[in-house]
Amino acid sequence: MVRGIGVDIIEISRIRRSIETIGEPFLRKVYTSSEIAYCNAKADRFQHFAVRFAAKEAFSKALSLGWRGEFRWKDVEVTNDPSGQPHLTVHGSLRDRLAGATLMLSMSHADENVVAMVLIEDAGT
Ligand SMILES: CC(C)(COP(=O)(O)OP(=O)(O)OC[C@H]1O[C@@H](n2cnc3c(N)ncnc32)[C@H](O)[C@@H]1OP(=O)(O)O)[C@@H](O)C(=O)NCCC(=O)NCCS
Repeated sequence: MVRGIGVDIIEISRIRRSIETIGEPFLRKVYTSSEIAYCNAKADRFQHFAVRFAAKEAFSKALSLGWRGEFRWKDVEVTNDPSGQPHLTVHGSLRDRLAGATLMLSMSHADENVVAMVLIEDAGT
């Protein structure tokens, strides 16, 4: 059974501003090392950072987590398989909570905005 879906759209300029003004502390708070390496290897790194931010917010919506301390940015990681398809991996306490669940993620970039959608399906359904 589908446990939840979440979608998020973000202006790339918002994330670009955070990276340019806060810099490394912002990156280290929100993104894992491998996410940072993936984005920094791209020609337009800001859209890749922005869409990963959107993916984390979409995930928190799919799980109805809210922002009351239950969710830490780096507990959710976006990786890409060899075809480029993105996947979500969860770490920390969320890992037990989502044991056996299937997480699906789709992301897209446009000139000014990025969008991400997450679907969570419970185990065995
Ligand atoms: C996937 C594809 C549709 C992306 O379309 P696009 O209009 O260029 O780009 P969008 O902005 O809409 O989407 C980009 C996102 O699509 C996702 N994506 C890339 N490849 C994907 C795939 N095979 N399946 C699903 N999603 C994919 C990624 O999350 C990417 O963002 P990221 O690099 O920040 O992670 C296009 O690249 C394609 O047709 N690829 C076919 C597979 C392919 O050729 N792979 C080459 C390596 S084998």
